[in-house]
Amino acid sequence: MEPLTTLRAAAEAVMERAYAPYSGFRVGAALETDEGDIVVGCNVENASYGLTICAERTAIATAVAAGSRRFTQLVLVSDAAEPVAPCGACRQVLAEFAPELRILSCAGSETKEWTIRDLLPDAFTGDALT
Ligand code: THU
Repeated sequence: MEPLTTLRAAAEAVMERAYAPYSGFRVGAALETDEGDIVVGCNVENASYGLTICAERTAIATAVAAGSRRFTQLVLVSDAAEPVAPCGACRQVLAEFAPELRILSCAGSETKEWTIRDLLPDAFTGDALT
């Protein structure tokens, strides 16, 4: 797996591309695939606020479109002074593709770490539909 510094740098770089004119709050995400590739995403807001796409979901959709469906770790950065945790919608989307995902969130010298299971225990999954 790639070191945190590599993923954090990728997340910080893509955060610069965040489209966040309404909230002014930028988020960057760097997702590592099981093949060791890094796929990034930023938040993309909309004048119809509810259509906003978070950085994590941008990264997942980009990775799936590129042919990756298995992920090992996700690193998040944002404009917040403290490490941010993924929102509820993103937890559900992350759990779909990466039930073993390790999530790290960085702000300054602080890093928080969770598994997706910590953040979304007893997730609703496709198993319920079979
Ligand atoms: N945001 C993310 O990109 N990821 C999260 O997990 C939480 C929130 C974005 C959405 C919106 O553009 C801005 O942060 C403020 O909510």
